[in-house]
Amino acid sequence: MSVTPSVSPAATGGTADSPPTQADLLDFARRTAADTELIASLPLDPEGRTWVRLEGPGGSEAWLIGWPPGSGTGWHDHADSVGAFVTADGALTESSLAARLPTDGWKTLELAEGVDRERRLPAGQGRSFGRHHVHEVLNESPDRHAVSVHAYYPPLPRIRRYSRTGQVLRLEQVERPEDWQ
Ligand SMILES: [Fe+2]
Repeated sequence: MSVTPSVSPAATGGTADSPPTQADLLDFARRTAADTELIASLPLDPEGRTWVRLEGPGGSEAWLIGWPPGSGTGWHDHADSVGAFVTADGALTESSLAARLPTDGWKTLELAEGVDRERRLPAGQGRSFGRHHVHEVLNESPDRHAVSVHAYYPPLPRIRRYSRTGQVLRLEQVERPEDWQ
């Protein structure tokens, strides 16, 4: 479900001369996640994720996302965009890979043992990430929604989706902006 943004937090950080850094995006996500009125304005749906587009700093792409209990993204990356996200309500779990993966030119990749990382992000906690950060974000709560704020720069040119079978990562799909806007 997509809804029209009702509020656009002031865009700060980054200019045409200096694009927003990971730190700028994380700062924006943290400040926005602390805006209790904005967070409470997001419609929630027990059947699926909800989202509102926000105006991120320096021309970045930002989203407010609602996660019903048990929902998640599946494995994906944001290609050449850097990004950040912060949990505003509830808690999210991020699984990621502590490995530098080849960016293009492969369909399946066998991961070494020990590259998996997991972090739990309760309200107020978040992280930033660099290009080609492969991750999966989940709301593992059995009964509570989570809400989070995300920002990406440059505005997402692609999202690549992967399946994971044991240590094997397989590229399944490349989504472009027209697929999610
Ligand atoms: Fe992501």
